[in-house]
Amino acid sequence: MAVRVFLVAENFSRHFRAGLWVVGLVLAGAEAQVLPVVTIPSSAREEIAALRIEIARHDALYHRQAAPEISDGDYDGLKRKLREWEQTYPEIAREVPAVAEVGDDRSGLFQTYRHRERMMSLEKAYTEAELRAFAARMAKATGRREVAFVVEPKFDGLAVSVTFEQGRLVRAVTRGNGVEGDDVTGHVLAITGLPRTLRVPEPVAGADVMPRVIEVRGEVYVPFAEFQRVNAEREAAGEARFANPRNLAAGTLRQLDASEVTRRGLAVVFYGIGACEPLTAYPNNQYGLHARIRAWGLPGVEEVWRAMGTDALWGAVQTLETARASFAFPTDGAVVKLDEMAWQREVGVGESAPRWAVAYKFASERAETRLRGITIQVGRTGVLTPVAELEPVVLAGSKVARATLHNRDEIARRDLRVGDFVYVEKAGEIIPALVGVNRARRPAEAVPFVFPTVCPACQTPVVQRAGEVAVRCPGSACPAQLRRRIEHFASKAGVDIEGLGPVTIEGLVGRGVVKELADLYRLRREDVAVLGKNVSKSAERLLGAIEASKRVELARVIYGLGIPQIGAVAAKELARECGSLEAVAALGNAAAPAGASAAVRAAAAYFAEPKNRTVARELIAVGVRPTGVAAGAGGRALLGKIFVLTGTLPTLSRAQATEKIEAAGGKVSGSVSARTDYVVAGTEPGVKREQARTLKVPVIDEAELLRMIAGK
Ligand code: IVH
Repeated sequence: MAVRVFLVAENFSRHFRAGLWVVGLVLAGAEAQVLPVVTIPSSAREEIAALRIEIARHDALYHRQAAPEISDGDYDGLKRKLREWEQTYPEIAREVPAVAEVGDDRSGLFQTYRHRERMMSLEKAYTEAELRAFAARMAKATGRREVAFVVEPKFDGLAVSVTFEQGRLVRAVTRGNGVEGDDVTGHVLAITGLPRTLRVPEPVAGADVMPRVIEVRGEVYVPFAEFQRVNAEREAAGEARFANPRNLAAGTLRQLDASEVTRRGLAVVFYGIGACEPLTAYPNNQYGLHARIRAWGLPGVEEVWRAMGTDALWGAVQTLETARASFAFPTDGAVVKLDEMAWQREVGVGESAPRWAVAYKFASERAETRLRGITIQVGRTGVLTPVAELEPVVLAGSKVARATLHNRDEIARRDLRVGDFVYVEKAGEIIPALVGVNRARRPAEAVPFVFPTVCPACQTPVVQRAGEVAVRCPGSACPAQLRRRIEHFASKAGVDIEGLGPVTIEGLVGRGVVKELADLYRLRREDVAVLGKNVSKSAERLLGAIEASKRVELARVIYGLGIPQIGAVAAKELARECGSLEAVAALGNAAAPAGASAAVRAAAAYFAEPKNRTVARELIAVGVRPTGVAAGAGGRALLGKIFVLTGTLPTLSRAQATEKIEAAGGKVSGSVSARTDYVVAGTEPGVKREQARTLKVPVIDEAELLRMIAGK
């Protein structure tokens, strides 16, 4: 409690610097004194005005600049606090000038365009009681005891309205101020998998299934996997990371270069309809709307629950909250909508949001803990990344002891000190992020952190390139960089050497047996045995795995080299274009031709450096002979089928299973939905297996999958 109160006080301080003094003095004393002082209003008018201004400022940062300063949880905290004040002092609240409620995302960089039908926002619910109150309102408004609701994820991205005329995509516009938004048609067209024309669905009796004009409403977002890839690439290139997938989506739509949309893996999902002509083309219920969107061939919501009555509604919301951990896209809540369109129309809309829907926001996955220390990691390209070493704390069900701090400037900007109490949050990263400092609990002896001036691994003085936030170790023989390069090369997405983990790599590099990637292939049994791998079986196995890695797909070797800008997708493209490792390395012999793809340009720049060419050449010299692209290796037995993997399979890793399914023409999705054809379950299958059961999706095991691939 004391924490939240202080956070609010800290936000106030931006407007009332004098106020900070009072709070600061109190905090110097016992912590218990904090509560009484800051909760007594100096003046309700000032509190309400300050909160409104503060919220508007954060709205602008969030919507217009895609650079929020506080977490969603803190923002919601400010909104809730304001609501409490407004409810306690309604007369005063009416006197204080209002600040625009709906966020405005118009950037001034694009042409603006008026929506045919206004784009609205959603009311929020934060507790079970608030959600039940919404359900009760709906029951009352419709005069029913039990009402049918639809529960779907609240996608955490940027709202867009995409207009189709005569089935053709003609325009895409951001929400803007709800009335008009930025025309981002070019950017939205660059989203992979968005069709430009609507498919003609199966006829439905009594309905117009193809509208003349329709505004389809949805969300542009970045899937977690793409978010992680983009951030890893930016880190390697010395660029600042994106704090969360939403910022990445919003930032990219604001870029003038639309090709970044494709490169950064933006995606879109549609969940609603604005204007629709003729109106008879409008589906009768929300559930049918989702089906229709998919029938038009548009990416639609696959995770939809239908619930009858309040208890079932609460149950579905909880199911969604649990299932959310397995979603491939970011969600920050559940959206609950009245199912029947006729009732939606009857219940109507309010000032800025419909009355027939509500967004139930999940509690943020955030915790407070102590910063024990800051360590520095050296990445494979030499970038020094500070890491927060934390007092272990449980966050969203797992123990967290470390958090990324991104870069030197970030520590200075936050004035982070060892000994501080900090907030950590999961933002779609495997490693959580540190989102704030609780200044109220700062120990008196805490001193600012001094960032090292030499590489902690090889003592080479660090450098910072012009225009980059990253601090790098330029050392060419830095053992830390080498270790990370090997880890990346041997990783699952790379040449996948099982048994070559960080500890083994550290031993090999530490003893000087491996000085370059190619040295892995020169290892003898005694080199490995000394590493405690003299249990000859595991030593043999490691050498066997290294040997086998000489024959993996070319794309994996290219990816494993860790070329800046070349992730798994670009590596596949290079493999297709070049056909051999020799040919890829030869790209460095001449400048990339005009019109070459981004991947070719990146590879040409990389291999223009002789030392990088040498690495490739040496790999070839020691016998690395990648195989070609596995086109149709397993026939096309799984063409068009969608699989979801869960649990540990007996022989295949997740990456291997995915590869096999894709090679046979199938697709692998991160979450179970009505469109899933099969769930492949191993041991400890988790929630997806339950979802499969609920949705009546067949569950198969690995053996069955392999039989299907073999066409038996
Ligand atoms: S319905 C008029 N459904 O949340 C109804 N919105 O906070 C408004 N959002 O502006 C939209 N997922 O950008 C709806 N499944 C979903 C959604 C969703 C995310 C966004 C949308 C909206 C914002 C409101």
